[in-house]
Amino acid sequence: MAFFGRMFHLITVFVLMIKVAIACSNGECKFLDECSSNADCEAGLYCFSCLATSACVRSTATNQFNLLNNSLPFNKYAFLTTHNSFAIEGEPSHTGVPRLTFNNQEDNVTQQLNNGVRALMLDTYDFEGDVWLCHSFKGQCYDYTAFEPAIDTLREVEAFLSANPSEIVTVILEDYVQTPNGLTKVFTDAGLMKYWFPVSKMPKNGGDWPLVSEMVANNQRLLVFTSIRSKEQSEGIAYQWNYMVENQYGDDGMKAGDCFNRGESSPLNDTSKSLVLVNYFRSVPMKSLACVQNSGNLIDMLHTCHDASGNRWANFVAVDYYKRSEGGGTFQAVDTSNGELLCGCNNVHSCVPGSTSGNCSSLFR
Ligand SMILES: *[C@@H]1O[C@H](CO)[C@@H](O)[C@H](O)[C@H]1NC(C)=O
Ligand SMILES: *[C@@H]1O[C@H](CO)[C@@H](O)[C@H](O)[C@H]1NC(C)=O
Ligand SMILES: *[C@@H]1O[C@H](CO)[C@@H](O)[C@H](O)[C@H]1NC(C)=O
Ligand SMILES: *[C@@H]1O[C@H](CO)[C@@H](O)[C@H](O)[C@H]1NC(C)=O
Repeated sequence: MAFFGRMFHLITVFVLMIKVAIACSNGECKFLDECSSNADCEAGLYCFSCLATSACVRSTATNQFNLLNNSLPFNKYAFLTTHNSFAIEGEPSHTGVPRLTFNNQEDNVTQQLNNGVRALMLDTYDFEGDVWLCHSFKGQCYDYTAFEPAIDTLREVEAFLSANPSEIVTVILEDYVQTPNGLTKVFTDAGLMKYWFPVSKMPKNGGDWPLVSEMVANNQRLLVFTSIRSKEQSEGIAYQWNYMVENQYGDDGMKAGDCFNRGESSPLNDTSKSLVLVNYFRSVPMKSLACVQNSGNLIDMLHTCHDASGNRWANFVAVDYYKRSEGGGTFQAVDTSNGELLCGCNNVHSCVPGSTSGNCSSLFR
């Protein structure tokens, strides 16, 4: 009886699934419905095949400021972060020499920002008398490893900040620029100094950051961190690990159940740094595996890193191929972090406005 009941239920579910799969198109396909093109899927979703059939999976982050409010300190929110945001498949060669290096993303930076990415990891090098974004070795950029002049990408950031006056963008530099004031010049030339959030306002001893609403009101909506310590003094560019703890990147940072700091960072449980960055990407990007890694594995690692960080949830969740997933992917991971940070629920969509204490509403999906 129970067996037949269950069989009947399974058959019903199966028939329904087929019906839904066939029934939807023209922007009507919902989350995880089968699809044949992006146009089939609802807004916020796109048609993607991870391991098997193509399904509508998420393509955009939740705007936590719009969903709840922006009246909390900056360190109470989580932000989707692209690792090597500039290393984009299909970026034409700007040196005349074909590039021989790997890619980490598929969308350009404007698309990343429009889809809700709010932190960019960029590698800056001295090259051709200018600052370039490059993948390289030993701090030296070559014509076959160069992506593009930094100003091109920074102008995309400027255009986004200008068009979106309530948004905040964080830029995290793996910085090899030795030219004095080289970074200052390129940020100035890109028109970004007017958005600069000053080092003097960054909390030094584990205190809260200013409220997002204040940062927006003051138009101080660009945070820049460098990996070169001396630039905090010389150029007023924050030394990343004065303000942030960060776990190990690459394959060593993807071992289930293990989350520990990278060499340059304090231990993750050093709460004198108010921001927590979680890296979750392979040493050498593997496009075909990214969709699985960006799904459940990433959320598991957020929990592991939370426990290792003195019970702090990630503010920055850094990934390769941010849109590749089996469903919710990196967007759901950031929703988890935001939910925990903002209201103690495991999904920001469960936060009840005005409540900070685990009063979670049930979700529709
Ligand atoms: C980014 O990609 C979109 C979609 O392909 C394109 O329309 C846009 O021109 C690109 N922007 C830049 C700055 O490359
Ligand atoms: C931080 O973690 C280390 C292990 O990584 C541990 O030895 C230390 O006691 C912890 N400190 C605090 C304040 O919890
Ligand atoms: C903003 O959201 C937080 C977290 O949910 C809440 O504590 C606060 O009361 C909210 N403020 C307003 C004005 O809704
Ligand atoms: C939880 O949220 C619901 C819906 O807004 C509200 O009616 C209820 O009073 C809240 N409970 C607590 C303990 O805050």
